[in-house]
Amino acid sequence: MDLKTKEFIEKKVKEIEDTVGSGSAISALSGGVDSSACTVLAHKALGDRLKVIYIDDGLMRENEDRYVSEAFSEMGIKVEVINARSDFFSALKGITDPEDKRKAFRNKFYEVFGESVLKSEAKYLIQGTIAADIIETKGGVKTQHNILEQIGINPEKGYGFRVIEPLKELFKHQVREVAKSLGLPKELYKRMPFPGPGLSTRIIGEVTEEKLSVLRKADRIIEEEIRKAGIYESIWQAFPVYLPVKTVGVMGDHRTYEDIIALRMVETTNAMAANFAKVDWKVLEKIASRIVNEIEGINRVVYDITNKPPATIEFE
Ligand code: XMP
Repeated sequence: MDLKTKEFIEKKVKEIEDTVGSGSAISALSGGVDSSACTVLAHKALGDRLKVIYIDDGLMRENEDRYVSEAFSEMGIKVEVINARSDFFSALKGITDPEDKRKAFRNKFYEVFGESVLKSEAKYLIQGTIAADIIETKGGVKTQHNILEQIGINPEKGYGFRVIEPLKELFKHQVREVAKSLGLPKELYKRMPFPGPGLSTRIIGEVTEEKLSVLRKADRIIEEEIRKAGIYESIWQAFPVYLPVKTVGVMGDHRTYEDIIALRMVETTNAMAANFAKVDWKVLEKIASRIVNEIEGINRVVYDITNKPPATIEFE
């Protein structure tokens, strides 16, 4: 283990032990590397005094709840899955503006999270905020969902609980090193980042069950094909975006009139700036052909060749 990473882990474990004392804390997992790393870190410090939950908001990738529970169970950490799918779905109903969607998601998230906090009597929240989340939110790029000030909570002021953000000075590649050293499985620490508000940021306009189902299928196809091509680890993020724009196509001997999937694949080290990935055409062709053939309702796939800036990584 790299000495600096080892020192960082020891320092943070001690800080969490000192802060929480004989009390208890709660951590909400998302399945991503940030919340996973800080949960394992806090578990190292607190053991069973850390309650770990996974809020199933219905906006995650396929079988995510099972994946998270099993991965953590193998590390000896019990995860309570809270099914809040219908709550999130109703909260997002009819909302089309990107920031309004984030706001609705965030409010619902903290409502559901808040109920668990109250039930658990934990006085400390462990959050996987990282440096880029803070910089981009303060810079006005996007209101990252995990910045508490946005819902009127200043963690410095007493609200009956305190927030602990052990990774807030780190960028993603450093978080991955910490996660690796903490013994997280490779699949988890090498995982592509996934936005807190989930697939809702990848659907232009209103979130519906049908669009979520299309995105999950497309997401699985993309992951399978880039793993097969051996390029998964060289791409920062690769994902589908649902564009509810109808165009004409032809299938067999009849005309189709269906929606579009945009493919977004980017390379970067910290997500503050990013370049579109120059993926082999053959891989893109395979993905496009599988998407239109295997997914009902989609007859066209386009590839996003815009860098960040001026475009952001996510479409919303
Ligand atoms: P953008 O789209 O802002 O994305 O270029 C930069 C990185 O942040 C992720 N992202 C989010 N993560 N909550 C999150 O936890 C959010 O609201 C959010 N919005 C974007 C995005 O996937 C990319 O890795």
